[in-house]
Amino acid sequence: MKQDILNFANWTPDQMQALLGLAVQIKQSPASYANVLKGKSVVALFEKPSLRTRVSFDVGINRLGGHMVYLDSQSNRLAGREDAADVAANLACWADAIVARVYSHDTLVTFSEAAKVPVINALCDLYHPCQAVADYLTLFETFGSTEGLTLAYVGDGNNVAHSLIIVGALLGCNVVLITPEGHEANPTIVAQAKTLAEQTGAKITESNDVAAGKGANVVYTDTWLSMGDKTPLETIKDKFMPYQVNEALMALTGATHVLHCQPAHRDLEITGSLMDSDASLLMLQAENRMHGQNAILTQLLGA
Ligand code: CP
Ligand code: NVA
Repeated sequence: MKQDILNFANWTPDQMQALLGLAVQIKQSPASYANVLKGKSVVALFEKPSLRTRVSFDVGINRLGGHMVYLDSQSNRLAGREDAADVAANLACWADAIVARVYSHDTLVTFSEAAKVPVINALCDLYHPCQAVADYLTLFETFGSTEGLTLAYVGDGNNVAHSLIIVGALLGCNVVLITPEGHEANPTIVAQAKTLAEQTGAKITESNDVAAGKGANVVYTDTWLSMGDKTPLETIKDKFMPYQVNEALMALTGATHVLHCQPAHRDLEITGSLMDSDASLLMLQAENRMHGQNAILTQLLGA
């Protein structure tokens, strides 16, 4: 049966650890994986803009010996010309996998049902699973393990936060979600992550108070307004400003490192000085996007 990567919520801790291990191996010995996608093609379809995801998939697939076709549906909207299910079924006639960045998670479910090849979520409204793999790979490399670490996510309870709690739960990493009132994470996904965490002993907790981040090893933040959210920044800025990830917040928590999936907005959700400081893991996260995704592709499509 083909396997899709929509959110990792159906994975076991062992499977997630194995994927992380594979990513480490691929990063350390790229030559051993130079042909795993030989003769294979991956279509990457984007309904939203991207820098890191698009380039890391394209370069990564090339390094595995495969070929990527980029479909820009920003200028050639998916909706309207034909049904999403028909798009996916057609793509599967030629491609060995479909990578898709879409507005609605439902589109990925439709793709998954209609396509006979694996579908990989490259970000939707609810999840960003490939980002979370890169983030925990970054923590694994920095701390030697993800088990028993505590990550304080400070900001909007969004797609990135959701994937961090799911993958963190599977990898034994405690995650505290610290969000302004009214911007909490999706309660169904939080409950799901808490259930997954029972297998590893990780703790998934929530608060509206930045003091809940005290004792965290790392602080993570993301944009206050995700792509597609038309809320004017001015209407939420005052509410979010106390949650800015800055030097004072790092001192309050005692965290040694800061993460951000990027694109970052300097001096809004994170100070530019912190991004440029020795505490920043941002570029290692960006680099690891490719290694994490190559592990996913190797697992799904490798011989
Ligand atoms: N972090 C991330 O997904 O970046 P892009 O939106 O640039 O792909
Ligand atoms: N939450 C952000 C992540 C971007 C990589 C968004 O969806 O726009």
